[in-house]
Amino acid sequence: MSEQRVVVVTGASSGIGKATAEAFAGMGWHVIGTGRNPERSAAAEKDIRAAASPDARVDFLRGDLALMSETMRIANEIKGLTSRVDVLINNAGGVRDKRYVTKEGTEETFTANHLAPFLLTRELMPLLKTAAAASEPGAVRVLAVASMAYLSAESMNWDDLQNLNGDFPASGVYCQAKLANMLFTHGLSQRLEDSGIVTHALVPGVVHTNFASHGDEAMQSFLQDAPGKTAEDVAGMLVSMATAPEFGTNGGRGFYDFEEHAIAPHGADDQAAARLWTESEKILEGLGY
Ligand SMILES: NC(=O)c1ccc[n+]([C@@H]2O[C@H](COP(=O)([O-])OP(=O)(O)OC[C@H]3O[C@@H](n4cnc5c(N)ncnc54)[C@H](OP(=O)(O)O)[C@@H]3O)[C@@H](O)[C@H]2O)c1
Repeated sequence: MSEQRVVVVTGASSGIGKATAEAFAGMGWHVIGTGRNPERSAAAEKDIRAAASPDARVDFLRGDLALMSETMRIANEIKGLTSRVDVLINNAGGVRDKRYVTKEGTEETFTANHLAPFLLTRELMPLLKTAAAASEPGAVRVLAVASMAYLSAESMNWDDLQNLNGDFPASGVYCQAKLANMLFTHGLSQRLEDSGIVTHALVPGVVHTNFASHGDEAMQSFLQDAPGKTAEDVAGMLVSMATAPEFGTNGGRGFYDFEEHAIAPHGADDQAAARLWTESEKILEGLGY
């Protein structure tokens, strides 16, 4: 009998992540979800368990992915629950209404959307490789829930990558964080070539979730009346991207609505991807990771 497949879904307490965790639980996978807000996490864990088929296993971990100490703890807890990860869905994140500096001295939009997936992916790489060694090439996948917002960021703010100083245009900073998702996917796909592990980015478009509640008034009113998809629509796309054979080749691609989204040049720039990788490592090293 083949081993049960394992999916890690960050941000499973709400929206896209919760719907995705429910879908995998319904398919009988071992689902490891993560959440932050205690009430939403407790409710989501209950719903994911209710959606699970009898052969599924559900674990739910809690922590603030804006903090690398908690991201590291979550990575270690995952290592305690499984020796393999077949699919990692870096979904947690979102926009903020203003600058929040963490007790680690970092900025939350950058850390939650980019640095946490960067660290979590690094820490779970041995488990992804274990799954890849036991699977067909391309079956093991790392997916980023990015955003079309990356198109509105011309570049990373290289002089102040975390936007810790000066003005803080919250939506613009979010656009940069989602550009970081694209650049990380690009850099990771290059590093994973020939590993049997494939990575892609999803740009979901507007989705009606709890997303807007974390943003400023302009973001909330923009999204309130915008036509959009349900979290379940997007979860269906993520399940396909995680499991369907056609997504198991040519890593580093973007997808929107079951169609390939040609990544804009600044989101697939070799130099920018390499620079972001190095800068991210430096920040983590500075924090002791
Ligand atoms: N909704 C959209 O229109 C849209 C469009 C493009 C891209 N996206 C992206 O889709 C992803 C999922 O968002 P969503 O729309 O499903 O919004 P959501 O309903 O707010 O869900 C976001 C999830 O991420 C978690 N999260 C956020 N910051 C976190 C942190 N610092 N530490 C731990 N967990 C954190 C949230 O936890 P809590 O429950 O504690 O808040 C929640 O589980 C995000 O990366 C977002 O940028 C969304």
